[in-house]
Amino acid sequence: MDFALTTACSREIETPAFAMLCFSDEPPSEETAGGVLKEMFASGEFTGKANETAVVHRPEGMKAQRLLLVGCGEKAKFTPAQMRLAGGVMARALQTRSIQQAAIRLKRLTCQPAMLRALVEGLITGGFEPDQYKTEKKNGGKLLEKVEISSIEITPEMEAALEAARIVGEAQNWTRALVNEPGNALTPRLMAERARTMAEECGLECGILDEARMRQLGFRTLLGVAQGSAEPPVMIVLRYAPEQAAADHLALVGKGVTFDTGGISIKPSDGMEKMKYDMAGAAAVMGTMRALARLKPPVKVTAFAPCVENMPGPRAQRPGDIVKTFQGKTVEVLNTDAEGRLILADALTYAAREGCTHLVDAATLTGAIAVALGNLYAGAFSNHEGWQQRVLEAAKAAGERIWPFPMDADYRELLKSAFADLANIGGRWGGSISAAKFLEEFVEEKPWVHLDIAGVAWLEEAKPWMAKGPTGFPVRTLVELARNWKPGA
Ligand code: BES
Ligand code: MN
Ligand code: ZN
Repeated sequence: MDFALTTACSREIETPAFAMLCFSDEPPSEETAGGVLKEMFASGEFTGKANETAVVHRPEGMKAQRLLLVGCGEKAKFTPAQMRLAGGVMARALQTRSIQQAAIRLKRLTCQPAMLRALVEGLITGGFEPDQYKTEKKNGGKLLEKVEISSIEITPEMEAALEAARIVGEAQNWTRALVNEPGNALTPRLMAERARTMAEECGLECGILDEARMRQLGFRTLLGVAQGSAEPPVMIVLRYAPEQAAADHLALVGKGVTFDTGGISIKPSDGMEKMKYDMAGAAAVMGTMRALARLKPPVKVTAFAPCVENMPGPRAQRPGDIVKTFQGKTVEVLNTDAEGRLILADALTYAAREGCTHLVDAATLTGAIAVALGNLYAGAFSNHEGWQQRVLEAAKAAGERIWPFPMDADYRELLKSAFADLANIGGRWGGSISAAKFLEEFVEEKPWVHLDIAGVAWLEEAKPWMAKGPTGFPVRTLVELARNWKPGA
């Protein structure tokens, strides 16, 4: 999607569709489109409620062919988060009408850099369709191609916001396309191929640890999960190292289970097809690196994506098996479906030992997180108050919702095992917390935040601003975290 900033005024812009953001408590003036809007408001045909849209053809007094009205709700409650949704609604409303070019005018409220950024991110993510495998695309595949953004004044801050938003929005969509890949098309090795190609394209360093190398290093817990599959595991390592960097080194660790059958503790077949998105954490850290390569923040960042397929093959790990982690502790695998924490254990220890000073992981780790928070918030779990606060602030600035959970020491008791140092499951209650307490054992006391994204990485039904399927969560938060890096914990 291309964008252009212009100072041309609303009436002068020649475009197939001129979009107008309308507030429910700010009725349009008599002059707009020759009074048609005022009539529409008066009759209740269009009220300006959020997500509402309407089209007026050949609006009087304008050079645009159409006027697209986008409802935005109450003006006083209009935040960048609302603007992001409005951008998504606008893109989808245009695309369902096969309109590929549009323009929009920013006002005093909406020309703030944070608003512009949200608009552009919303337009790009709203325009995304997870249709890689459809031979017949919606509306013949006519996507929104160009948006002219007009404002009284164009400042360097606005230009910078536009450029960054474009990079972030595209990285989010790149992640979504990857998450949408089915298990047969995206095995761990194919995921490594994607990482390699992407790294070459944008100038990142990419290393792939293969099975032999991981055996040598002693990633036994990760290999235990992988052994039930005919597909060998990989660990993807992407490095971004700017010349002028702070002493800090940020690690982004993402769960990359390309398909999760549950293994021998097999999942029910109902809905199992969705377990192709069990690599959403890995895809998000890869997409984040893609954005960082372009945004060039002043901090060293390395992404680690342990990738495996969790299958119940003849060599599969059995319930009751005891494995020794890379870190050294032993784990009793009471449930082979709690595999994410097993591969992350080795990956987190590896990241810590590679000299990373700050750790964040993103993982579709537990169904329990959706029971606790629904599908709107991801859960945050941490061993370090200050570091968690920074992650939460980045999420707020980026417009992604993350909620912190308790991590009291006594939750650790849930993971007691009779025969090993710890068990890989913690019982029925507080399932997301016991999963996080498990991970905590392997971070070598480094400041660490775990994001459980199982409830938010996949949208169950289409929204007016976003297609059904992968969301690209938490690419925006992770990019924001690195982009506004503050030295110290
Ligand atoms: N990948 C799942 C978690 C998940 C569930 C992600 C639903 C997305 C949607 C994870 O590997 C898993 O199976 N977790 C188990 C843990 C249990 C065995 C302790 C779960 O949540 O049931
Ligand atoms: Mn599982
Ligand atoms: Zn899983």
